[in-house]
This record gives sequence, C-alpha cells and structure tokens, in this order.
Amino acid sequence: MTEQEPIYRGKAKSIFRSENPDELIVKFRDDITAFDGAKKDELSSKGVYNAKVSAYLFRYLEENGVRSHFVRMEDERTMIVRPLEMIPVEVIVRNIAAGSLVRNYPIEEGTPLDPPVIVLDYKDDERHDPMINDEIIVALGFMTAEEIEAVKQTALKINDLLKGKVDAIGLDLVDFKLEFGRHGDEILLGDEISMDSMRLWDKQTHASMDKDVYRFDKGDVMTTYAEVAKRLAGEE
Ligand code: C5P
Repeated sequence: MTEQEPIYRGKAKSIFRSENPDELIVKFRDDITAFDGAKKDELSSKGVYNAKVSAYLFRYLEENGVRSHFVRMEDERTMIVRPLEMIPVEVIVRNIAAGSLVRNYPIEEGTPLDPPVIVLDYKDDERHDPMINDEIIVALGFMTAEEIEAVKQTALKINDLLKGKVDAIGLDLVDFKLEFGRHGDEILLGDEISMDSMRLWDKQTHASMDKDVYRFDKGDVMTTYAEVAKRLAGEE
C-alpha cells in the first residue's frame, strides 16, 4: 500500500482522510517546534507520549460530559477523530501567571489567578497569534456571542476536570490551550491536550514538566514527557 498524502500537515501532527467520511486519521509525529516554528527538532517517541496523554484526557473529559472529536486510537500514535471545521481561535485558560501573560503585562510569574483567566488568541502563525476578543471574533464571523460564551464555560469546566487529574500526580496546571471546531450543529473540542499544549509545574520545586523544557532548554525533554505520560496515563 502506498503511503497516503496528508490532507493537512501541522507542526506536530498530520491529518489523513479515512474510508469513513465521518472520520479523519490524525498521526502524532515526533516533531517538536517552538516560537512559531523558529526552533524545531525531532525527538523519538514524542508523538507517542502526546497521543497517549491526549487520548487519555479526551476519554476522561468525555466520561465527564465534555464532547470532543476523539473517537478511538488506531495505534500508539494514530488517533481516529470526527472531522471538524476548525474555528481559528485558541482558547487559553490560566490558573497561574506565566508565559506571554508575564511577558506582556505587569504581573509576576507564579501569581495565582483566581478566578482563572481566559485569553483568546487568533490562530495565525504569520501574525504570531495575536490576542483577539469577543467583539472581533463576532465581527470576523468565527462565532456568535452565545457560542463564545458556551465555549468559555466549556473551557472552565475542562479546567476544573484537568486540575483534578494534574493535582493528583503532584503537578500544578499553570495554563493550557484548547481549540474547538464545528461538527454539524455542534461545537466540539478538537486538536490535542498534551505536554505541548499545557504548562505543568512540579508542586514542590515548580520545575517545568512540559514544552517549556524544550523551549528554554531546561532539561531532557523526552524524560519529562515520558514521566508525565506515565504518571497521568499509566504504564511504562
Ligand atoms: O505562550 P503562552 O503563555 O500564551 O501559552 C499559554 C499556554 O498555551 C501554554 O500552556 C502553551 O503551551 C499553550 N499554547 C499552545 N499553542 C500556542 C500557544 C500557546 O499550546 N500556539
């Protein structure tokens, strides 16, 4: 069988058509990138760890009433999903100040944010994902005001659910990014939830256990990803 061309190749995942028109095939590659692709590497098994954690968290969210594109795993790096028409808005939930919040605003890293802060970014690499707001999203026709409100409520529910899981493995859920898309009349959670899209700190030492290890050369990236995958989703 010849290898099929992807219908979409992102920075870390490739998407292929499936024989079933209501399914797509997502392959988690071993590529890792940061700073809008300015820093890139290939790290053996990285895709497997992210696929494993994403699948585990999508199943956990589904069990708790959050619908996503996740259907099933085909193999250790291949996820079968429902096709979504993606909404180009990144929904970021922050529990502790870090990253771009600290770079862009006068707030000290590590400051607890209670209630959590939701930040919406327009997903566009060339424009470096600028922050967007409800009014601009409505003006651009991406979502109605009601849909934005529903997505924010879902993001806060996901935050509560993820915080529980992450707390239980000795980590703080600092922040994370979600993406949503349309499937018929529904807006479903899409993309992935992994060490690439969450910021996780060790509760005691505040050491990074996520992609910041790669972004800022803070240690061995694969040891970190393997450790989080093991603590969260079990086995080796
Ligand atoms: O860079 P920033 O502090 O805004 O990132 C907030 C959170 O969103 C981090 O957990 C980061 O890994 C995630 N993120 C992402 N993809 C982006 C931007 C941010 O997964 N394009």
